[in-house]
Amino acid sequence: MPVLRNISFLATCREEGRQGDLHAVRNAALVWDDSQIIWVGGEADLPDHYKGSEELDARGRLVIPGLVDCHTHLAFAGWRAEEFVQRALGKSYLEIAESGGGIMHTVRLTREADSRTLLKHCQEVLDQTVELGVTAVECKSGYGLDLETELKILSVYRDLKDCHPVRLASTYLGAHVIPVEFEDNRSDYLDLVCREVIPAVTRANLASFCDVFVEEAAFSLEEARQVFAAGREHGLRPKVHADQLSSGGGAELAGEVGAVSADHLEHVSDAGIEQMAAAGTVAVALPLASLYLNQTPLQVRKLIDGGVRVAVATDFNPGSSPSFHLPLGMTLLCVGSQMTPAEALKAATIYAARAMGMEGMIGSIEEGKAADFAIIDAPDPDHWLYYFRPNACLGTFVGGRQIWGQGA
Ligand code: NIG
Ligand code: FE
Repeated sequence: MPVLRNISFLATCREEGRQGDLHAVRNAALVWDDSQIIWVGGEADLPDHYKGSEELDARGRLVIPGLVDCHTHLAFAGWRAEEFVQRALGKSYLEIAESGGGIMHTVRLTREADSRTLLKHCQEVLDQTVELGVTAVECKSGYGLDLETELKILSVYRDLKDCHPVRLASTYLGAHVIPVEFEDNRSDYLDLVCREVIPAVTRANLASFCDVFVEEAAFSLEEARQVFAAGREHGLRPKVHADQLSSGGGAELAGEVGAVSADHLEHVSDAGIEQMAAAGTVAVALPLASLYLNQTPLQVRKLIDGGVRVAVATDFNPGSSPSFHLPLGMTLLCVGSQMTPAEALKAATIYAARAMGMEGMIGSIEEGKAADFAIIDAPDPDHWLYYFRPNACLGTFVGGRQIWGQGA
């Protein structure tokens, strides 16, 4: 039975209490059996029967629950560095999309890519993600927008679950944009999403959630309602890309349909915050996307004060967020969104786990939960996020097994 001792600060990140309540244990020890945590507490209180088991030494470091990246567009083909340059020269994200770039550019390349290439790309990204202490990732489709390619992407995620130790949750994002071939016939595309793709996705058990990009340049509130109704009928829980580029009632809709999460939210309204709080919808801040699109970052205080849990994720994708660095996103929240490091840590663990429906199993260090955790080269969370380094993670454990780093 492995015991991790000499932990200077163990952030349990239990869910109760406020966003900044980490329920930390100082000078702690942690015990797990095969895959589950069985004891957490002060090292001085470690019961005798655990002493002398397989002992690991954290050397006075910080231990956190495995980080959870609860919003990514992991599987795509090709990159879009040329758009990064165009934006630097003054073009906007929407102007680039209107001139044939943006999401549709990635859709064209992803339709052409074979499953093996997509799987290899996902594996390479996940291999680097775990080095940062990430142990669970939500991944969306949405670069296929036809039956065949959406199923191809979601099947890649299914295969990934079998060959990679990271825990995954899959989301069908057929309502990402209207594909060009349906430009003059939006309702036919919605019929395809609702009557063909959603039933096929759920028949093959390929997703847990469905997501809609609610935005003037993407889908209206009424169209989103249709997709969520079809999703719900087939057992897919709603998630929303809401109020990213303009204030369009996306947060209100998230509350109305009882969405698990509403993500982006840079332009969220007060009414939207109220409806999210009433429905228990998690707000997902995506600070790397705000950074790359040079937007004012989400101001999280009004959400937290309004009773909404705030999570953080990378939004990893080839357009608005070509980075999977979740700890960088956490530091950005502290710099630009008035969040404390303690709040950012709960955002990247237990609240992120809730945003992907896995809060009962992961996201906190508690007896009975999976032994998913990371050892961070810092004395506490404040110092970790303040002294930003390319990688401060020394070891990553999933289900009690070390999947990255030197032996502790
Ligand atoms: O979350 N907002 C919509 N979708 C992605 C962007 C995808 C892309 O640009 O390829 C996002 O930012
Ligand atoms: Fe996104």
